[in-house]
Amino acid sequence: MNISRGASIATIATAIAGGIAADAFSLEIGEAASPAMPRRRIGTLEELKKRGAIDFTYPDKSSPARAVLLRNGEVVAFSLICTHMGCEVAYSRETESFDCPCHGSVFDAARSGAVERGPAPRALPEIQVTSTKDDVLYAVGLSAPIFGASESLRENQTIYGTEGDR
Ligand code: FES
Repeated sequence: MNISRGASIATIATAIAGGIAADAFSLEIGEAASPAMPRRRIGTLEELKKRGAIDFTYPDKSSPARAVLLRNGEVVAFSLICTHMGCEVAYSRETESFDCPCHGSVFDAARSGAVERGPAPRALPEIQVTSTKDDVLYAVGLSAPIFGASESLRENQTIYGTEGDR
């Protein structure tokens, strides 16, 4: 099964949840919509199933992120930098939420990181995830700028593209 560059995270997650992951599927990533967004290995789907979550960094090595496997089988990933003032959020598997220890914001992992409780002004930046035919997961884009990111990353508020399938 091929999933085009325009495929949404939900589509990919649904495919994984539907058991396609077991048969392996490949993704075709087209040319970059934004050359700023790298393609970075997260880990394997098998590792994620075993551990429930995988920490990585994205889009650069100083930006913490986490991929999680939701109870409904979806694979989602988010920046761990709170959109309020930049504290690092923690993931709660029980509530499937990212919780900020600084001022109490809560983000819903099952609803694209939407703010469940403020004062955070906007959703946690979601990281677009794709998978290779051998179930290796890659981060390839970001839904919104990370708190404190450079101005060049603030220009585009939609899902960023990738540098291409490398
Ligand atoms: S920095 Fe996260 S709620 Fe204030």
